[in-house]
Amino acid sequence: MAVAAALGSLGAVALGTFVVSLLLRWLWDALVAVTRFRATCRQLNKFPTPPWRNWLLGHTGMGQSTEQGLQQVDTLVARYRHGCLWWGLPWLPVLRLFHPSTLRPLLSASAFVAPKEKTFYGFLKPWLGEGLLLSGGQRWARHRRLLTPAFHGDVLRNYLGIFNQSTRVMLAKWGAAVVSAGGGPVEMEVLQPLSLLTLDTLQKCIFSHESHCQERPSKYIQAILELSSLVVRRQLQPLLHPWWLYRLSSDGRRFARACATVHAFTADVVQRRRRALACLGHQTWLDGHRGRSMDFIDLLLLTKDENGHTLSDEDIAAEADTFMFEGHDTTASGLAWLFYNLASHPEHQERCRQEVQELLAARDTADIEWEDLSQLPFTTMCIKESLRLHPPVTAVSRRCTEDIPLHDGRVLPKGVICLMSIYGTHHNPDLWPEPEVFNPLRFSPENSKGRSPSSFIPFSAGPRNCIGQSFAMAEMKVVVALTLSRFMLRRDTARPPPCRKPELILRAEDGIWLLLEPLVGVA
Ligand code: HEM
Repeated sequence: MAVAAALGSLGAVALGTFVVSLLLRWLWDALVAVTRFRATCRQLNKFPTPPWRNWLLGHTGMGQSTEQGLQQVDTLVARYRHGCLWWGLPWLPVLRLFHPSTLRPLLSASAFVAPKEKTFYGFLKPWLGEGLLLSGGQRWARHRRLLTPAFHGDVLRNYLGIFNQSTRVMLAKWGAAVVSAGGGPVEMEVLQPLSLLTLDTLQKCIFSHESHCQERPSKYIQAILELSSLVVRRQLQPLLHPWWLYRLSSDGRRFARACATVHAFTADVVQRRRRALACLGHQTWLDGHRGRSMDFIDLLLLTKDENGHTLSDEDIAAEADTFMFEGHDTTASGLAWLFYNLASHPEHQERCRQEVQELLAARDTADIEWEDLSQLPFTTMCIKESLRLHPPVTAVSRRCTEDIPLHDGRVLPKGVICLMSIYGTHHNPDLWPEPEVFNPLRFSPENSKGRSPSSFIPFSAGPRNCIGQSFAMAEMKVVVALTLSRFMLRRDTARPPPCRKPELILRAEDGIWLLLEPLVGVA
């Protein structure tokens, strides 16, 4: 009995000690966290804070993904030229940065010190997996090294034929719409057909697959469009943010079905190609390509790192899905806003058209070729100015693993979300006088002298910049050159200007509507 009682009291003492030590541990952790947070706050207090709702809610709900939200960014940038502190929630500080002085140290930091902030991209994970956009650490570094040669000029020049061919399909449809409207100008929403065009070119460049998606519905392309719109819708519905709730919702089930369609298509192409490579051997396989240039899947199947290691089928599929996602809407948004800006400025449009016509004069082909891309200086300036005024990606974010010192003695503290506002930087009056004016001459060689490269970052910059930027610039030049050589773009003055809508990419509330008028004497 006595022994049992002694053991019982020993057990109680042990349990008590365990609970007390747990409590002490918890208190210690809480104290460390509070001390660290206070130290971070001391660093953050050196950044100006715009007026907020109150100390409890901070700026919660004050930033919107709307036209008003973008105008609010303009106001913030005009007031706080380098950046400001934003309290998303009372415990969630966000540094909003709009100037090379605050952006450059972050952009030039290594990808390990300034990794991406995951919250903004989390919903894309089941679709894009560990592709370049979402991965981090050593895996990202290894894949980035392996993928970079696939975007070299010698590879991209082979895609020019595809850009020309797909653009002609779109223009033929536009021509047919004009004919059915009696030959006069026809009003059209341009972002949607441009998205189909960019999906079409990507599907050909990545998979060598001709889905004719611009002419008839394609299950795979519909699935990609659905995934993009479901991700945006979910962002706006906080109730559907937890995965377990989303999976039960009808949107969640549609998302899973669309993911399955996309993954099945990609896996099928990759596996068939891998089997062919294994059966035929390298040389016969390469010889079999005569007449067809290598696509991205071929290049990724053949790539090897310094130790001779290749990419797995799953790796290749994730990268291909990432290119399809990251390459289509961004380029389509860039093109749609470029068309809008040229329609709003007929004098610039006409100068681009003359440049293209002079280039194509006395030639036996109406195709834009690789060498032509550097012969369109004014058109290139217009593309850049449009990417400045209407950047397809309006912001990117980082959360640093170390304090990043700024030149004025302040620091971007470790662990704090840094929102690099591409839109804000491109609209900063310190960098761009009269930022709302579309003026392509800002990008003339004389006017570009002395400007910080971090003032113009539509493709971000530094180690995690856009790997597809040369691809996108080449495609945009071909599409705009061919379009201007067939159509006049005009704005319907009865329509109010579009309300901009920053989602995954910069859209407009009710689409981007333009009048298309066929040029006289063009078949
Ligand atoms: C006008 C068109 C485009 C714009 C404005 C654009 C913009 C961007 C931006 C701002 C980033 C950085 C994202 C971040 O830091 O979170 C990025 C990354 C990326 N882009 Fe693009 N992009 C365009 C076209 C393309 C195309 C055509 C492709 C592929 C064919 C592509 C593939 C990628 C990939 C894979 C990444 C991730 C790179 C990495 O993290 O290493 N993009 N893009």
